[in-house]
Amino acid sequence: MTESPIGVFDSGIGGLSVLQALQAELPHEHFVYWADSGHAPYGEKSDLFVRQRSLAIARHLIEHHHIKALVVACNTATAAAIHTLRAQYPHLPLIGVEPALKPAMALSQTKRIGVIGTKGTLSSEKFHRLLTSLQDQADFVVQPCNGLALAIEQSTHAASGAQTSEKITQLLRDYTQQMGEFGQAAGQMDTLVLGCTHYVFAHKALQSLLGSDIQLVSTGEPVARQTRRLLDAAGQLRAGPAPLAASARMQLLTNGELSSLQAAAKRWLDLPHAACHKADPQV
Ligand code: DGL
Repeated sequence: MTESPIGVFDSGIGGLSVLQALQAELPHEHFVYWADSGHAPYGEKSDLFVRQRSLAIARHLIEHHHIKALVVACNTATAAAIHTLRAQYPHLPLIGVEPALKPAMALSQTKRIGVIGTKGTLSSEKFHRLLTSLQDQADFVVQPCNGLALAIEQSTHAASGAQTSEKITQLLRDYTQQMGEFGQAAGQMDTLVLGCTHYVFAHKALQSLLGSDIQLVSTGEPVARQTRRLLDAAGQLRAGPAPLAASARMQLLTNGELSSLQAAAKRWLDLPHAACHKADPQV
């Protein structure tokens, strides 16, 4: 099992932001990444749909790629399906992602914190439990961002360009304005939690809208560290002789447009096009 890959999936390219952190934290491991772009976005679909997709992808990665662990690199899928996945595969190390409210609380001085994510994540029971457990320690301003993950997903399509990046900026401007004031003064939000893995790719646009003093908090690195801990505890860390070249240890699959995944993988992980493949359309 030690030689087997770690499975990672998302509704599309968002999870590549988690894969970036995973490859830095675990340079000896192999990864197989499933971009479910043919079914993106998840955030505005039913829980049942997201759960069924998550189960189908997990089964495929286990049966056909013999993964030794699974990282659900999607907040929406974690909220809708992590319990079902754990029940179905009790022996598989499973790592999910959730909006990083606790790390944001530790960073915030004003104790007023913005949280953006998909409708699915922010209306889930799992998120409500987390929010309720922390509400007496900070003020959280929660904003679902319908359409944002899709715009980020589409920004990788060959035909898109200035138009999608304008759309992303417009959505970010509208949503952050609705949330209230950002800044360092009392009563202002000094920290923003990116509760969707796609949003990490809008980091630059957000920072220039809100100002460089606003802290943006995402989950890639803590998730990568947790993956290392779980593999270590299971005695399944791969102790390769030397770090493998990224292109030799990454296999990326998509049921969307191959050229879009290739463009995203090149841009965000500097991977060659040959690392990306068409996924089995039956899954
Ligand atoms: N990247 C996903 C997340 O973290 C889902 C985005 C979507 O498909 O709506 O929530």
